Amino acid sequence: MAETHFEGFGGVRLSADEWGTRHSPTVLFLPDIGQVRGIWHDAAAALAGAGRHVIAVDLRGSGASEEPGDRRYDADAFIGDLYAVLGQLSSRPVVVGAGRSARLAAIALGEAGPDLASGLVLVERYGAYSSSVPDDAPASGALDERTRQALERITTPILQVSANDSEARFDRFASARTDIEAEAMLAPSHPDHEEHFHAMLVEFLERRVPRTADEYVTGVDPRTLRDALGTFATGVTIVTATAPDGSHVGLTANSFTSVSLDPPLLLVCPARNAGSMAALEQAEHFAVNVLHIGQQSVSNLFAMKGEDRFAETEFELWDRGVPILDNALANFECRKYAEYDGGDHVILVGEVERVRYAPQRDPLLYFRGKYRRLHFG
Ligand SMILES: Cc1cc2nc3c(=O)[nH]c(=O)nc-3n(C[C@H](O)[C@H](O)[C@H](O)COP(=O)(O)O)c2cc1C
Repeated sequence: MAETHFEGFGGVRLSADEWGTRHSPTVLFLPDIGQVRGIWHDAAAALAGAGRHVIAVDLRGSGASEEPGDRRYDADAFIGDLYAVLGQLSSRPVVVGAGRSARLAAIALGEAGPDLASGLVLVERYGAYSSSVPDDAPASGALDERTRQALERITTPILQVSANDSEARFDRFASARTDIEAEAMLAPSHPDHEEHFHAMLVEFLERRVPRTADEYVTGVDPRTLRDALGTFATGVTIVTATAPDGSHVGLTANSFTSVSLDPPLLLVCPARNAGSMAALEQAEHFAVNVLHIGQQSVSNLFAMKGEDRFAETEFELWDRGVPILDNALANFECRKYAEYDGGDHVILVGEVERVRYAPQRDPLLYFRGKYRRLHFG
């Protein structure tokens, strides 16, 4: 995140935070009058993580933005600020506004023509009010009719997000256009309140204002198949076992999935030609060790030929004598339950006998042939 500035209506200096790169499509967040831009920080970080360039701006006279010399806080002054900010952006953003700012943004876009933004998200209420509301600032109700009329003229996608307890109030805008999408927020006290809202935004943006035009590649050749399968994001595991001679084997595998809770089953698919296969086939037990975000080097070590994989890897043995890697995100000690033909791989099903996991850590992810990090906290 970096701090940036805009010149608002009448030259007032507006402070903002910025996330992501300017090559990505922009989302502009506006707090309500009486709020500061910090209310949007988590949402902004989440959208930046989802490939958006995000700007959260403080309104005139609040947060780090300047108080206007003429002390104008009427609707047209705020709308003038928004025009000024939009004019300084290099692409048309999706505007996300809370409360009165949602209405002011709708009015700005509806009255000036549709070309200023690529989408609009009207959020009834979000986050705390920590800034004072100037006396002459417009009340929400006073903006409603103008907002409704403006919405009729906007042609870009619109999402309307009602606060959990005030659906009826915000729904008045739904009649303005039949294609306005409407969602309700979870109550602020709900543990998933924020994450639910972030997911709602990402889903709307990906569907209605996608980052790139959809372009499909088709075919069943090995390259296309690998690439298509690579669109399924996974975690990364190390599958370990002990050979009859007591030596330990292990390989990196992302072909891991949970199968059943009763009995507790999981599966993983090692390649038939894997060096570890002979030991895995003979073993009565094996372990699946799920890697955390800091274990990319462990993943590489157990995927490279010719390395002594256990020389520098810390592990312990539990009840079944298979290596349980120290410091992993999770360890599953399994009894071999079944083995199925999986073409050039073997489908190895394990009955979980003992589990250990670290609830606070983030996973190492693998997607499109690259290691990735989790974006949502
Ligand atoms: C992220 C990642 C995921 C992998 N997933 C699998 C897998 O699911 N099954 C498999 O057989 N090999 C997989 N591999 C490749 C093996 O780890 C690699 O071929 C390794 O050298 C096999 O070791 P081995 O032949 O000594 O048993 C993966 C490699 C990486 C980097």
